[in-house]
Amino acid sequence: MAMAHPTTYEAIGYTGDKNSFPLVAFPREIPAPRPDELLINVIGSSLNPLEFKLADLNFFGNTPPVALGFDVSGTVVAVGKDVKDYAVGDSVVAMSDCNGNGGWATGGSGGYAVAREYLSAKKPEAVSFADAGALPVCFLAAYLGLFEHVRPGDTVYIPGGAGGVGHLAIQMAANALGAEKVISSGSSNGSKELILRSGAHTFLDYKLEDTTQRVLDLTDGRGADVVFDPTYSEQSYVGSAKAVRHGGKWVVLGVGPGRTSRTQITESPVDAILAEKSAKHINANVLDYFMGSRVIEEATKDFLRGAMAASMRWHVKDLVRPVVSEEIVSSVEAINAGLSKLRQASGVHGKIAVNLSYR
Ligand SMILES: NC(=O)c1ccc[n+]([C@@H]2O[C@H](COP(=O)([O-])OP(=O)(O)OC[C@H]3O[C@@H](n4cnc5c(N)ncnc54)[C@H](OP(=O)(O)O)[C@@H]3O)[C@@H](O)[C@H]2O)c1
Repeated sequence: MAMAHPTTYEAIGYTGDKNSFPLVAFPREIPAPRPDELLINVIGSSLNPLEFKLADLNFFGNTPPVALGFDVSGTVVAVGKDVKDYAVGDSVVAMSDCNGNGGWATGGSGGYAVAREYLSAKKPEAVSFADAGALPVCFLAAYLGLFEHVRPGDTVYIPGGAGGVGHLAIQMAANALGAEKVISSGSSNGSKELILRSGAHTFLDYKLEDTTQRVLDLTDGRGADVVFDPTYSEQSYVGSAKAVRHGGKWVVLGVGPGRTSRTQITESPVDAILAEKSAKHINANVLDYFMGSRVIEEATKDFLRGAMAASMRWHVKDLVRPVVSEEIVSSVEAINAGLSKLRQASGVHGKIAVNLSYR
């Protein structure tokens, strides 16, 4: 079933195979959803480092041009034949398909993204399109990193807590999962303010302090029960691995130690540090669900559905909400400027939201 919509629009993304930042606009046919997908007219989105990394390296191996913009909120305009729980006209939030179907567009009338039904959720009226569009990638990253690992009463250490992932992870640990103490780090007053506002009990300045020693001091020498490191910094990994307790869990976001550049593998002492403490090394990676021909099992789909539903439920309950430090319109210039800020890997607080419906 489908709602009347145009057949083409101006998407924003990359057209070369490598080193394709800054992004450009290009005409794109609006795709038909596959059997388990929704086609969404996108109203809200946000920026993620993933988008400039894909323009740099095209690591999913998609054939350009590739439309970017994987965080999406908007209105369903068509559903695949196997989709049961969504209908045309529903307001939804989703992580769109990383294999080339992001939702950014020029013009102010919204882009068009396809998303798998199990990476979508209905958007309650109480949640704005802007907030919903700022959640998916970072919320899923924090959920994968924490949901099955944090127990009520735990002490959790989250370096980089002012980032897109970090500020949601602090709220999740402190407000939704029952952590007793959340320790986090950043490098500026703006980061400190956001980290404490997100619910962390202690802020550490990673440029000025020995953060490992501070975590050990704050836990009577024991170390944190769970460390979730979303910094993509090899230097942070070494320090945060040393801050986990004996038998604790060290959860890293994405590809993990020695692989952060994605182009070469470097030596990392992290596994040796963790082995000495009998601590578990856990990788949380949202991108795994889009790799190659990976078959996603039903239990995994249910887990992801649960995560997307939680992103809306916890927002309504005021437990986990995105903090938008800047809202830009969906133009090539504004998106390139925003992604250039994110490329510094420091200094952006919370999320940069993208408004696609500004006409
Ligand atoms: N594979 C996945 O599943 C997945 C999903 C989402 C994100 N990611 C990746 O995860 C990383 C973070 O994403 P994001 O959206 O949160 O990025 P972001 O908004 O740019 O945040 C980066 C944060 O890292 C902090 N930081 C940088 N170096 C640090 C260090 N040495 N110690 C402690 N904190 C440090 C910065 O703090 P200050 O500003 O205070 O310096 C900043 O708050 C990116 O590389 C992204 O690509 C991966």
